[in-house]
Amino acid sequence: MSVVVVGSLNMDLVVRVGRHPRPGETILGSDYETHCGGKGANQAVAAARTLGKPAPAKAGATPPQPLVRMVGRVGQDEFGQRLRNSLKREQINVHAVLPIPTPTGVAFIAVNEKGENTIIVSPGANYRLRPENLTPAEFDGAKVVVLQLEIPLDTVRRAAELGRSAGARVILNAAPAQKLPEKLLEQVDLLVVNESEALSLTGVAPASPEKALELARQLSQKVARVVITLGEQGAVWAEPAASGYQPALRVESVDNTGAGDAFVGALAAALYEGHSLVEAVRWGVVAGALATTRVGAQSALPCRTEVLEGVARLS
Ligand code: RIB
Ligand code: NA
Repeated sequence: MSVVVVGSLNMDLVVRVGRHPRPGETILGSDYETHCGGKGANQAVAAARTLGKPAPAKAGATPPQPLVRMVGRVGQDEFGQRLRNSLKREQINVHAVLPIPTPTGVAFIAVNEKGENTIIVSPGANYRLRPENLTPAEFDGAKVVVLQLEIPLDTVRRAAELGRSAGARVILNAAPAQKLPEKLLEQVDLLVVNESEALSLTGVAPASPEKALELARQLSQKVARVVITLGEQGAVWAEPAASGYQPALRVESVDNTGAGDAFVGALAAALYEGHSLVEAVRWGVVAGALATTRVGAQSALPCRTEVLEGVARLS
């Protein structure tokens, strides 16, 4: 059984700035750095690190299968190669991450002194992953399927359908925000959104945890289970019979990039291991907080021990 992530891989070009520029304005920033990113790849790495390495095989036995598989597209360029290799190092199966003759997705990221970012994504190869490129074989043995919105929407819909047919639980992280067709929501078991995505789905800002809880309950009339992440305030969750608020883990944040992805990946790992939604949300808030304490997206994601220690500190 595995976690299958269908989504984006981006090279993140990161520059630190005193403050974000206004339209028409030029400002000077730090030297830039390149970090492996993309919401799909980040969530795959977060899930893999949270699950930990599969136990090594005894002599003569078949080697352990990766617990996480990624489906996506990169360019036939240096960025694409680096992104694929970074996933391989995490023991993620990348057979379905195909290099194609279109530039690799790139994210232009500016991070200010408070750790707040602005991101412009140039999707490149990610947008060449079409519904007809997905095959049932890629979802064989999937227990959890994880989706985001940095690939074409009709591909996301097809992936959700194939995931459902394979008997997997389908998690949709509706990021970045966009209108969601009902047909897609029907295929989703768990919807995860942040504050601005919740605003764009409901027209109401989750200004407080109480308000967010109300919105989560409202959204759970469309998708059975809903989580709204609230940054430094933690997260709320709702399912048919229960709902609740989980405060965050207190940390010193330096760069929020990848925090949402850490949340989703760790949550997916917890559900994969059979934990309840309320427990999975705890794993998510811990991983999300820890990811903000280090620079970069994938490079900042916590390992299993860190997540479990954090969860113990929470409860
Ligand atoms: O969620 C963070 C990610 O969003 C970054 O890694 C960047 O690639 C963008 O896709
Ligand atoms: Na980070």
